[in-house]
Amino acid sequence: MSLTNTRDNYGRVARWLHWSTAALFLAAYCSVYFRQWFSEKQTPENLTALQLHLSVGVTIAVIVVLRVLWRLNTPQPADEPGTPLAHRAAHLGHMALYAVMIVAPITGYLGTGVDTDFFFLFDIPKFESTALFQTVVADGMGLDFKTFEKPIDFIHKDVLGAWLIWLLIAGHAAAALYHHFVRRDRTLLKMTSGG
Ligand code: HEM
Ligand code: HEM
Repeated sequence: MSLTNTRDNYGRVARWLHWSTAALFLAAYCSVYFRQWFSEKQTPENLTALQLHLSVGVTIAVIVVLRVLWRLNTPQPADEPGTPLAHRAAHLGHMALYAVMIVAPITGYLGTGVDTDFFFLFDIPKFESTALFQTVVADGMGLDFKTFEKPIDFIHKDVLGAWLIWLLIAGHAAAALYHHFVRRDRTLLKMTSGG
């Protein structure tokens, strides 16, 4: 299998970026819901789950930068046969997935009240402790962290986390399965075993 995309298939790099992101999204959800549903507040496992969520989220942020750069510099495989409307919908869906891959980590980071202990290796200071927060938000906008955090948290947790990301991923995965099992085309194969 080639490193770069070909006309028929995603290459090794695009597949690695795609499936590692998918695994990290799963990990982001598992860690945050473990924290909320299966652990008592402020216990060591509760705080570990939060730190894992933050670390996984930051990793997604790094990977999405690489992914966007890669995508902009390598041609995409050709679309499977379908109507122009279906192709448009698929491309819009992919753009929406890129949007949440970018906006979720940013809103997560901006609205978090603790430092990220990145996989328990080193600290990444919370936004509130940075000079950027002080200059732009506190001095420039005259807001304290609590007021600033509210709408950001709403986007991260209530809009993106609670339903929009689920909806997009479920629709995306369902479309992939529909192509594979109903239309029986190469859409899923070009991102998996298609060589
Ligand atoms: C793509 C990456 C991310 C996804 C998919 C994601 C998803 C979520 C979800 C589903 C929730 C729970 C929402 C709810 O309460 O119903 C959440 C909460 C939260 N996220 Fe993220 N997140 C991501 C990245 C980040 C990052 C990078 C940070 C910070 C560095 C972060 C910080 C938080 C915090 C502090 C909470 C609240 C946790 C709690 O109170 O239990 N997230 N996130
Ligand atoms: C069960 C999980 C998933 C399945 C079965 C799946 C399947 C696929 C398939 C078959 C393609 C190729 C579609 C085509 O070229 O027409 C694709 C592309 C894509 N997928 Fe997924 N995917 C999954 C999870 C995710 C997740 C979690 C994200 C991001 C949040 C994502 C983002 C994308 C994007 C942006 C593309 C366009 C190609 C690119 O730029 O890399 N996928 N996916």
